[in-house]
Amino acid sequence: MGNTQDNLQATFAGESQANRRYLFFAEKAEEEGQPQVAKLFRAVAEAETVHARNHLKVMGEVKSTQENLAEAISGENYEFSQMYPAFIEQATAEQNKDARISFSYANKVEKIHHGLYQEALDAVKSGQKLTDAPYFVCQVCGYTVVGEAPGSCPVCGASSEEFKWVD
Ligand SMILES: [Fe+2]
Ligand SMILES: [Fe+2]
Repeated sequence: MGNTQDNLQATFAGESQANRRYLFFAEKAEEEGQPQVAKLFRAVAEAETVHARNHLKVMGEVKSTQENLAEAISGENYEFSQMYPAFIEQATAEQNKDARISFSYANKVEKIHHGLYQEALDAVKSGQKLTDAPYFVCQVCGYTVVGEAPGSCPVCGASSEEFKWVD
């Protein structure tokens, strides 16, 4: 067993993963005609979010928005400049096409997230508020854009109906 700081990191990761896993299990339960099981998965997912938030706050990792944007920028930068390129290379070498595509979508989109966060940080630093507008997220590759959904996704080619509105 590590120290409590390590345990907080590990449980934050675990609870965060459980949250997403249960939400995807809920989608599957809906597809299988089990709405109450879906609801149970969503309820427990909500509770895992509470645990994840508690753990992250105890670690002091929710800071000012300016600091949080800087943290987000460095995370996205690591993902698209180091982590995903190496993972794509390995998936290609192993001829794991599905993994290669999944990593490639994420890699391209993390670069875009990096840019969006950088613009936001620049605005916050200069004391400005970002212009109020919705975001649209491609449900195939995660491509994220502000304002309106494109006719087709520039990353994966999905049609505009695949975009989820975030406001
Ligand atoms: Fe990202
Ligand atoms: Fe896409």
